[in-house]
Amino acid sequence: MTSRIAILISGRGSNMLALADAIERGEIPRAELALVISDHAHAHGLTHAHTRGIETLVIEREGRTRDAHDTEIIRALEAHDIHFICLAGYMRLLSPSFINAFPNRILNIHPSLLPAFPGLHAQRQALDYGVKVTGCTVHFVDEGLDSGAIIAQTCVPVLDDDTEETLSARILAEEHKLYPRALKQIIDAKFEMQDRRIRL
Ligand code: GRF
Repeated sequence: MTSRIAILISGRGSNMLALADAIERGEIPRAELALVISDHAHAHGLTHAHTRGIETLVIEREGRTRDAHDTEIIRALEAHDIHFICLAGYMRLLSPSFINAFPNRILNIHPSLLPAFPGLHAQRQALDYGVKVTGCTVHFVDEGLDSGAIIAQTCVPVLDDDTEETLSARILAEEHKLYPRALKQIIDAKFEMQDRRIRL
């Protein structure tokens, strides 16, 4: 059976493209990219999605409460018969009703080795802290900030002369490999979850 995937973005959309490319190349054989939703009409990622012929929707957050916004998104996801949702640079916490509507079916990618450096500017947080290794994490989404069960992680070295830009670029290159791999593992259902420990 094919799983219909939706990707939620707010901006650049490079992880969305990495997922789209992997699906197009047949690397996630049981996935079909059905929909990209942006909460900003001017998100760059939307242009890339259009170019690829991927169906897109803009559901602006402006002027809506979080619950009203999420309710509209849930409606769109259900109307498109979506099985899995990938957040990719989607800059809003999801409401409990959103999470409960798709239990263990919402994934996110974050540019640090969680639980270190959740939230905004994870790469700058890593540099400021002085860690020698950081990375990226794909995790299930829960009601907290980057706090859901961890699916997969990749380590990236922090170099002495790194700036936020150079470190972010090194992490991003790994994000683009990790996200498709983690999505495939979850779709293939080759995982066990005990409390918050996932064994793939
Ligand atoms: C990525 O670094 C991702 O880990 C974080 O936001 C950034 C989004 O980048 N959640 P992009 O929009 O996928 O290019």
